[in-house]
Amino acid sequence: MTLLCSKFHIIALLSFMLGCSIVASASLKVGFYTQTCPSAETIVRKAVNKAVSLNPGIAAGLIRMYFHDCFVRGCDASVLLRSVPGNPPTEMDHPANSPSLRGFEVIDEAKAQIEAQCPGTVSCADIIAFAARDSTYKAGGIYYAIPAGRRDGRVSIIDEVTQNLPPPSFNAQQIAQLFARKGMSVDEMVTLSGAHSIGVSHCSSISNRLYSFNATHAQDPSLDPNYAAFLKTKCPPQHLRLVLEGIQPQCHLTVSHPIAWTTSTTLN
Ligand code: HEM
Ligand SMILES: *[C@@H]1O[C@H](CO)[C@@H](O)[C@H](O)[C@H]1NC(C)=O
Repeated sequence: MTLLCSKFHIIALLSFMLGCSIVASASLKVGFYTQTCPSAETIVRKAVNKAVSLNPGIAAGLIRMYFHDCFVRGCDASVLLRSVPGNPPTEMDHPANSPSLRGFEVIDEAKAQIEAQCPGTVSCADIIAFAARDSTYKAGGIYYAIPAGRRDGRVSIIDEVTQNLPPPSFNAQQIAQLFARKGMSVDEMVTLSGAHSIGVSHCSSISNRLYSFNATHAQDPSLDPNYAAFLKTKCPPQHLRLVLEGIQPQCHLTVSHPIAWTTSTTLN
């Protein structure tokens, strides 16, 4: 994946320099590859369907990948760039992405098949966007046409993840502020958080709120006690030891708990 995608970046940069005017987001359009690579979206869909049939969790992984790509430097596939030995770490090396981000092999496979048919035409950034869309359909039956024409970036910096993605410790207000910086409303933030109705979280992302919040409260008092009790059954204290030993237990995410609603009511 990264190999193909990295090569493609040079081509993308060239097409950017030769035709800057067509790279503005306003030029994204549905059916962007109809003439130049008519099978592009079909190839992505088949790769996603195959992978998600084998492991439904991949749908969650690809949706999260799109979010993590877009919030850092825009939707430019910068999340796919591997660091070169001797050079600074990239977005991919950040704890928000490594080792939890999953589905890279699906992007890799789609990209390889697309390159075989239409070399140097379809960006990895568009493939991620299509794959997230197809995952949403496969997992939840929600379909939308997606405008394409994104170009791949060549820059990926680990610190930009810290600056642009919300850590699990953020409260609703902080998350709303971060989304506002991206031009998104609280409503949009709450809606997008609905993505957490599928997928998993590592216990390490939440265990401090269950067992070691601060000096006076072992458990985060802002966490609904019933929900905290439920999470403790999923992430029992023994898991903390496993984490220290490098094993990462996971628990299933769910938004059936009214976190999202609390979010919008506290803020409005
Ligand atoms: C609103 C602020 C957000 C926060 C604080 C947040 C935080 C998190 C955390 C801590 C995890 C668990 C990671 C792990 O331990 O492995 C997670 C997983 C996930 N996130 Fe978010 N997230 C946010 C927004 C979003 C958005 C906007 C999307 C997509 C539209 C999204 C999609 C997902 C998915 C699908 C998973 C499960 C991934 C998997 O099963 O592989 N998240 N998120
Ligand atoms: C622990 O957190 C609670 C709730 O946020 C707060 O009221 C309390 O002062 C904190 N204690 C310490 C020692 O920081």
